[in-house]
Amino acid sequence: MIKVPRGTQDILPEQSYKWQTVETIIRDTCNVYQYKEIRTPIFEHTELFTRGVGDTTDIVQKEMYTFEDRGNRSLTLRPEGTASTVRAYVEHKLFGQPDQPVKLYYMGPMFRYERQQAGRYRQFVQFGIEAIGSADPAVDAEVIALAMDVYKKAGLKDLKLVLNSLGDAASRNAHKEALVAHFAPRINEFCGDCQQRLEKNPLRILDCKRDRDHELMATAPKLTDYLNEESAAYFDRVKAYLDALEIPYELDPNLVRGLDYYNHTAFEIMSTASGFGAITTLAGGGRYNGLVEELGGPSSPGIGFAMSIERLLLALEAEKVELEDTSASDAYIIALGDAPKMEAMRLVKQLRDAGVSAEMDYADRKLKAQMKSADRKKAAYVFILGEDELASQTVQIKHMATGEQQLVAIPEAVTYLQKHKEESR
Ligand code: HAM
Repeated sequence: MIKVPRGTQDILPEQSYKWQTVETIIRDTCNVYQYKEIRTPIFEHTELFTRGVGDTTDIVQKEMYTFEDRGNRSLTLRPEGTASTVRAYVEHKLFGQPDQPVKLYYMGPMFRYERQQAGRYRQFVQFGIEAIGSADPAVDAEVIALAMDVYKKAGLKDLKLVLNSLGDAASRNAHKEALVAHFAPRINEFCGDCQQRLEKNPLRILDCKRDRDHELMATAPKLTDYLNEESAAYFDRVKAYLDALEIPYELDPNLVRGLDYYNHTAFEIMSTASGFGAITTLAGGGRYNGLVEELGGPSSPGIGFAMSIERLLLALEAEKVELEDTSASDAYIIALGDAPKMEAMRLVKQLRDAGVSAEMDYADRKLKAQMKSADRKKAAYVFILGEDELASQTVQIKHMATGEQQLVAIPEAVTYLQKHKEESR
């Protein structure tokens, strides 16, 4: 038997309604914040990610699905959405639009060759937003607020926002030098990757999964101690805006994100629900002033975040939040006999034309079996149409929640249902 590839999953109907509900919450939230959707290709030139995400990151070094096409081009299945969005911002000269920042969102599959575990997949769906073209700290607060709103609207309560500032380039260089001085004398006690990172990007050492418990990690110089005045002032503004929005946060000077493009604000949103797996990060993001230039555009600062739908659904499960199944049918039509079935076909069509979700039995089963189906399918109303009803041009309509049953004239059945649906809202 052929199974799905490791790290991927099928989403069956008993799960897909949850995806749809969450996707609707996301699109509605983006709309109220006025972020517009951008759709970029699933694969890009490999160079976009080596330059954009950074060639010392785990993503680029170990996790990319890279292949050559028949024209010998190196292409990569996108591991994240920021680089593609910034590429499109540059390619389509969105920096020339009069209203900056340009506020974009995306939702779609991303691919990383990672070790499979709960909450970590090789194909996962990221929802992310990017606000490009403004260095206003108020935008940082807006981006964070949007992420928190999505989780809250979905019904999550056990959340923690963790915040840090990575400062500007000057602050980071000062910190970098301090890190090199700190790790260099004992770098041979670290893994091969970290030895390379010392030269190229010492900040990445702090993010190493293998050397995480080394005693030098805890005593490493903290970036927050190296923030220059401008960077510290910027961070203070971000915090002040979050306070104004009444969004609580925890400061974590050790929060280093796994991608190279960040500076200033960096944040993650974690689930604090007991019973949530080992990986508690639901979303991550931050500012990336400099990335637009790196990808060939003019100087345009940006900030964004991404979250996977998979982890959002896991968090809902951990908090035992049930999402409403809006895909359940409104009406299930039971026809008993040939002539009633003919009438039922017409009735189902009329209901559907009126925007009512309706279905009927196609196995000519007995009343009891059909009633059971209606129940399993969570139909709100059941229509029963037998020879007697047909003769008097009526239909029995049963409200499943209350058990109430009424005889309604067939021509009035559609309006009857619409009216009752409206009332039960
Ligand atoms: P990231 O931290 O690599 O950032 O990923 C963001 C989120 O994607 C994670 O918090 C998690 O919810 C989800 N995620 C990542 N890898 C996996 C996986 N293997 N399985 C399931 N979910 C996963 C970025 O991707 C940045 N582009 C975020 C960003 C946007 N920064 C600025 N703008």
